[in-house]
Amino acid sequence: MKKLKNISIVQRSHIESKNIFFLLHNKFFNNLSKQFGYKFYFLFFISILIKLPGIILHFIRTSLNIQKPKNTFFQKKVLRELNEFGFSIIKNSYFSSNFLDKLNKSFYEKYSIKNISKLSEPIIYVPLSKTNLKKVLSIIEKNYMSMISKYLFMLPYLKTVTYMYSKNESNFKNSSQHWHLDRVGLRTLKLFLALHDQEEINGPLTFIDSKRSEYLVNHYRYSKTNQFKRISDKLIDKEFDNLKFKPSRFIEKKGSLAFLDTDRCLHYGSRKSLNPRLFLYIEFGSYLDFKIPFLF
Ligand SMILES: [Fe+2]
Repeated sequence: MKKLKNISIVQRSHIESKNIFFLLHNKFFNNLSKQFGYKFYFLFFISILIKLPGIILHFIRTSLNIQKPKNTFFQKKVLRELNEFGFSIIKNSYFSSNFLDKLNKSFYEKYSIKNISKLSEPIIYVPLSKTNLKKVLSIIEKNYMSMISKYLFMLPYLKTVTYMYSKNESNFKNSSQHWHLDRVGLRTLKLFLALHDQEEINGPLTFIDSKRSEYLVNHYRYSKTNQFKRISDKLIDKEFDNLKFKPSRFIEKKGSLAFLDTDRCLHYGSRKSLNPRLFLYIEFGSYLDFKIPFLF
């Protein structure tokens, strides 16, 4: 498959552009995640108008670069699940057991458990070595990129490829350990590759499918205002008790891959647990995101 030149690697810290116009734009439209109803649609429409030339260009570039993949049937299935439920779990991803071990080993070579315990952050993001990063990107490109592009309106851009290590030592108020949406755009796609078996004792990634999430968001008029950034377990349980519904948990074997749209699916993770958790974490956004991406 031809390399998608339009997808560049953007480190987490570089997502915000340094250009003053972009900074002002991003600051203003950051508010979109706090809006609800007609005000949201109005502001969103304005943000699209501003970005329109970039959106059209990127759409054309992506459409021209995309080629029919070998695993069309598989990618179609994942895409169908994502469109329908906002998530898809793959038990046998295209990451070989050898490569998973290599990824695991190189993380602990860089960061020993002793060093990690000295860091104050509850979740630690560590970049990959150049060789590993190249290999990860080529696996994604070959096996998933066509579907990722289609899911993200043919406007995808790569935000982050990093290790994500959750210590799971404490619970924090108002953190991502409580139910929330990321609200960075209309759709976003996060890939969580299990670098070890994911069990209950690893503070598993927990989420609710997009349809039920939409119901809850509308029911509680959830928006990311400071007062209501997170939804309590109590409110979620109250709604789901009658329906005998239980949220999904990413409890799977090493090598499993979770695709999760954290803009459409309510989620949380990394709650205080017995053991830590290590993912390879890959994040894609779309050019319809509320903030202008670095690439413009
Ligand atoms: Fe989140």
